[in-house]
This record gives sequence, C-alpha cells and structure tokens, in this order.
Amino acid sequence: MEQKSSLKSIIRPYKPTDKSAIVSLFRFGILEHVYPAFFKAMSHPDHIGMTLSVSVAGYVLGGSSYFLAVLFAGAWACLVYYCCHEIYDAFLRRKLEAEMADIQANFMDSQANGFWVVEMEVNGKSKVVGLLAAVKRDGWDADAGDGPSLEVFQLVVSFNQRCKGVGTQLVETAVEFCKEQGLSRVIIEISSPQTAALSLFRKLGFIVTSGNSNTHAYHLVSKLARINVIRMEKHL
Ligand SMILES: CC(C)(COP(=O)(O)OP(=O)(O)OC[C@H]1O[C@@H](n2cnc3c(N)ncnc32)[C@H](O)[C@@H]1OP(=O)(O)O)[C@@H](O)C(=O)NCCC(=O)NCCS
Repeated sequence: MEQKSSLKSIIRPYKPTDKSAIVSLFRFGILEHVYPAFFKAMSHPDHIGMTLSVSVAGYVLGGSSYFLAVLFAGAWACLVYYCCHEIYDAFLRRKLEAEMADIQANFMDSQANGFWVVEMEVNGKSKVVGLLAAVKRDGWDADAGDGPSLEVFQLVVSFNQRCKGVGTQLVETAVEFCKEQGLSRVIIEISSPQTAALSLFRKLGFIVTSGNSNTHAYHLVSKLARINVIRMEKHL
C-alpha cells in the first residue's frame, strides 16, 4: 500500500535499504525525551523541595558553605538526570536488540504487523523522514472489550519535518491497516513527557484508558524520574 501525502512525500512500506536511516531516526525519537523528562521531573514540587533540602544540608554540613550547597544540589540533579536517561536508554537498547534487530522478520514477514516509512525530497535528495511500526496484539478477553488490537510500536517524525501533518498521516495509515486486518482497536503507550504525541493522538480520537509508573526500569529509577506510562486507545 503506497499513500501519497503533501510536500512531495510518500508513505510506503519499509525496505531493507532504509535500515540505517530508520535506526538513527528511532534512536533520536527515543533519546530526545530525556531532557524534557528531566526538566519536567525537576520542576515537580516534590523535587523542588528535595533540591532545596539537599542544598540546605550541604550548606549546613559544610559550615555555611555555598559551594557544598551547590554541589549537593548538582549531585541530586545529576541523579535525576541519570534516572531519566536510564529509562529511555534502556528502552532503546532493549528495542534495538529485539524487534528492531530484524525489521524484515519482525514486521514485514508477518501480515499482521506493519512498518511504514515516509520518504521525502529534501534539498533534491530522497530522505526517510518518518516511521511508524505497529504490531498485532492478542487480547485477553474479547467479551470484556480486550480483543485483538493493533499496537503502535513506535512513531517518529524527523525534527525538521514536524508540524506539517506527517505524524497524522502515519497514524491514519496505521488505522486503515488496522481496519483492513479486521481489528477494532488501535492502542499506544506513551511516556508522560511525550506531550506532542499525547496531543497528536488525542486530536485523532484516541482516549487515555490507563496510566502507570511501570517503565520497566527499577522502581526507584522510575520514581525519581517521575515518568508515567500512559495507554491510549481508539475503537474503530
Ligand atoms: C509526535 C510526533 C510524531 C508528531 O509528528 P508531527 O508530524 O509533528 O505531527 P503533525 O504535524 O501531524 O501534528 C498533528 C497534531 O499533533 C500535535 N502536535 C504536534 N507537535 C506538537 C508539539 N510540538 N506540541 C504540541 N502538540 C503537537 C498537535 O495537536 C498537532 O495538531 P495541529 O497541527 O492542528 O496543532 C513527533 O513530534 C515526534 O516524532 N516526536 C518524537 C517521538 C514520539 O514522541 N513518538 C510518539 C510515540 S511513540
């Protein structure tokens, strides 16, 4: 299935020659959330309180030392940054070693899964500027509304091509594919700092069905990073 989009671009299925462009887009699309997650965590009232507390502790323990106050606060900020980085980096490593290690076998050779890329002409050259990968998930109980569904595994649009409707077109492609497969639900899990994605899926009719703090990292790491995993669904 090839779909035309505006801006001289096409959405087409993945080809093995896309691999290196796809992997760098995938890597960027995950690690770019580290800084937003860090700033979001550090601006939470609990973490602001903690920053002030460790600064005061440093000041007092150092015998009225401003240097130790700043050092303690800096160490605390580094710890929170490490936790944010660890969550996304560990996720990236896991995915690169598993599903992304063999895109052809894991997505293209199975009719139930899909992997689309957006190819666009940039400065006279054809470039891959977006990707959406989706996998079929078996539900637990169809009667309870948890039948088989299509899960968006990853969606990334290259930074320079954002806010031009590319992400919307990729999601619409996945929704069409879901209908063709006879599935009635598209699901996605997004981490709380991914505000653009949350807004995109909301705009496309997805609703938040649950949220939890299970980022697959150690509980303390997730707690310090203050990252939640939000599950969104769209019934077709
Ligand atoms: C999320 C992402 C795919 C959006 O791609 P995009 O091509 O910029 O999206 P679109 O141009 O189709 O935008 C559609 C809607 O998304 C929302 N949106 C997009 N970028 C946004 C931003 N920076 N801030 C807030 N909302 C945003 C808006 O509601 C927008 O509608 P509008 O243009 O009418 O305001 C892109 O930002 C991205 O690759 N992010 C990093 C990876 C990621 O978070 N992936 C998602 C889950 S795996």
